[in-house]
Amino acid sequence: MKLSKKISQIEASDLAKVSRMAKEYEARGIKVIHLERGEPDFDMPRFIAESIYRAMLDGKTHYPPLQGEKTLLEALAEKVRKKNGIEAGVENIAIVLGGMHGLYVALRTILDPGDEVLVFTPYWLSISKLIGLADGSCSFMPFYIPLMEGWLSETDFEKQLDETITPRTRVIYVNTPNNPSGAVVPRSYLEALARKAVERDLIVLSDEAYEDIVFDNHRHFSISSIPGMLDRTVTCFAFSKSYAMTGLRLGYLVGPKDFIQLAWSRMILYTTNGIPAPIQVGAVAALRQGDKDIERMRRAYEERRDIFVQELRKVKGLRTLMPQGAFYVFADVSALLNGGSIYDLIRDWLEVGVAVAPGMAFGAEYAGWVRFSTASSMEELVTAARALQKRYGTNI
Ligand SMILES: Cc1ncc(COP(=O)(O)O)c(C=O)c1O
Repeated sequence: MKLSKKISQIEASDLAKVSRMAKEYEARGIKVIHLERGEPDFDMPRFIAESIYRAMLDGKTHYPPLQGEKTLLEALAEKVRKKNGIEAGVENIAIVLGGMHGLYVALRTILDPGDEVLVFTPYWLSISKLIGLADGSCSFMPFYIPLMEGWLSETDFEKQLDETITPRTRVIYVNTPNNPSGAVVPRSYLEALARKAVERDLIVLSDEAYEDIVFDNHRHFSISSIPGMLDRTVTCFAFSKSYAMTGLRLGYLVGPKDFIQLAWSRMILYTTNGIPAPIQVGAVAALRQGDKDIERMRRAYEERRDIFVQELRKVKGLRTLMPQGAFYVFADVSALLNGGSIYDLIRDWLEVGVAVAPGMAFGAEYAGWVRFSTASSMEELVTAARALQKRYGTNI
């Protein structure tokens, strides 16, 4: 069949490639620990499932309102006002089918062909594909690693923004807490970004999928809470990671009224024709009763991070930064490449039963890095780190 050139040219996911490679090793009887995927290993809290089930029995099986169920929109308006400090009303919110769909809807609603989106690196691997699907192009700027390493001041950040923004730039995509680095962007940098967005008349697309997974004394801050920024910011939130409900596909966009109206009346109508109504009922229950579960999982991710980073740092030649949020560890393994490619290293690690994501999926300059997910049990994480210690030797 003759298929779309545009779609065929979009590269397949690097994660899918690693998972396929892992299958070859598993077929040979090697037990592989899958640290390449970003999927919580927790189950969704049971009360959410029960409320979804009850909603279906109660007949919530008809076309849902396109913008979203009224009770959910109201509960979310309260949530974003109280928790994120965003002065949003119901008219500033639209329900979407998870973070991925939300970002696609946002980009499609904002961009015209040829518009450029400035993406900070390392970035969540799907964003460049979504920008391409929405007929935009990407420009890149290193941000999260210099930020975590502590050598990028707010002034330098603003200078770099000035150097990277072009006349075609329409949107700046920021992701905090960041996948893959685990950086949590401090308020002062988001204020600097907001100043630049106002000065250069740009839109900010803020991806806050991991807002609830933040460690130590770091604080999640929503750029849209800065006075005036709701008018030029679209924030994409998702239920996926906070409530371990990746399979239910639920998220929401918060933005200016005209954006929200166009997003649901065109993009949501003509892509999904609404978002499953029973899941939206479950989301209301999650917002009302889910705080304890969020905290339980957050604490578990923090404990895993502590132990896993400690064990990984014993591996000779591997360098990691301490993640401040999300559930990944991004590590510089260039000293372990020995002239080979990152895929040679990935094969080597599969041989000892460890699957990871290759760094270049998160930005060209990270060809010598890998991403581990800590959304696996402590036992698996420790076993994986020990396998690498055995393979390369330890620093102790
Ligand atoms: C940074 C980031 N944004 C958005 C998403 C998409 O989330 P969802 O699973 O809700 O589509 C992910 C998923 O891994 C992510 O890591």
